[in-house]
Amino acid sequence: MTLPTADTKSNTMERKASEKRLTKVEAEKLLAQYGQEHLLRFFEELTSQEQDQLLNQIADTDFSVLKQLHKDALQKKGRISPIRAMELPEIQEIKEELTALGLEAIRQNKVGAVLLAGGMGTRLGSDDPKGMCDIGITRPVYIFQRLIRNLLDVVDLSGAWIHLFVMTSDKNHKATVNFFQEKNYFNYPEEYIHFFQQEMAPASDYDGKVYLEAKHKIATSPNGNGGWFSSMKRAGLVKLLHQEGIEWLNVFAVDNVLQRIADPCFIGAVLRQNCKVGAKVVRKNDPDEKVGVMCLEDGHPSIVEYYELTRQLRDTRDEKGDPAYNFGVILNYLFHEPSLEQIWDRELPLHVVEKKIPYVNEEGEQIRPKEPNGYKFESLILDMIHMMDTCLPFEVERNREFAPIKNKTGVDSIESARRLLQENGIPL
Ligand code: UTP
Repeated sequence: MTLPTADTKSNTMERKASEKRLTKVEAEKLLAQYGQEHLLRFFEELTSQEQDQLLNQIADTDFSVLKQLHKDALQKKGRISPIRAMELPEIQEIKEELTALGLEAIRQNKVGAVLLAGGMGTRLGSDDPKGMCDIGITRPVYIFQRLIRNLLDVVDLSGAWIHLFVMTSDKNHKATVNFFQEKNYFNYPEEYIHFFQQEMAPASDYDGKVYLEAKHKIATSPNGNGGWFSSMKRAGLVKLLHQEGIEWLNVFAVDNVLQRIADPCFIGAVLRQNCKVGAKVVRKNDPDEKVGVMCLEDGHPSIVEYYELTRQLRDTRDEKGDPAYNFGVILNYLFHEPSLEQIWDRELPLHVVEKKIPYVNEEGEQIRPKEPNGYKFESLILDMIHMMDTCLPFEVERNREFAPIKNKTGVDSIESARRLLQENGIPL
């Protein structure tokens, strides 16, 4: 097998060297189109290097996302109907067959893994990348370390290394790459780990005025997890997929420390059902649990968010008498790469999310708000599901595969994840 050379490895992908691409007058004109002239408020006070930096950032920023603020908050859904999931008893019966199929694909190097780690993890409240969070009790156990360990389980079982692609953002790229280097990639071969950066979107106040994070810097936030494949393309990594013959990508979130990555049984199930995407799902805890559930929308796979689930949908039953919309997604998907090639440049809906955004005020003072003070704009991976022709919702046992860390305390926190890890016999 040919391994990627240092050149094709995108962990070295740094921001383009700055050469000035806009004059001040051009920037003023561009900003005026979007009502954002205030971003040049401190321009005359800046050093010439800072001025260039700001002008370049203005050139790179997609201000058109602000149009989203004037649209209806909820996108209109199409006709919703139930989708059949592969449930635990059925999986149990054919587990060996599915696992063998999945292992064969892994050994043929057809499977890669994509870790989405570009989010800000604001709910956890640390400035470090979420994956650097230490969840150990008697020894350090970092989230990244746990995820790599989970992937190593499959490497051990299959005897094949799996390429891991790690998405970061401008806010956490350096810290993430440095951390992996410092920890010697948690004993994963460095040449199988590829970092790439997602794009950023401007963050605005409630009136749609973009904040300045510093006098020479627009406040931006990562543009959501929906752009992961186009960011991989931009980073030149899709070439590597083709070179290596990778046909399936298991995309997963940084915060679920219990999830199985490149799970042979899941891969085998998606292959056997001949679907373009698979989604790991868990049975809902209760009908009102705040989780997006799988469905068909106008005949295509889709996800109804909990706030879109009407009472009527919630109470619909299937032929067995079970709730018809009962399987929540856990952000662990297996995508067919050639199918992604067909949809990657289609526009995804943008979601407007309220956030705490640090900024400089009119007096030039740095403010770190304690409460949300504006919006960020995100595209979401779940909207990609609707662009695929077929999807297999694949049920997993909640207590064995779902321990997300979102909050500091309480539900989906380090404490709750620790409990679940210990329940699964993982020493902390
Ligand atoms: P979340 O929806 O939990 O968002 O991300 P977040 O930004 O990490 O956390 P909060 O809401 O600020 O507390 C789900 C997954 O998608 C990734 C995250 O890193 C996580 O793995 N993600 C999210 C990105 O990779 N990029 C983004 O822009 C947003």
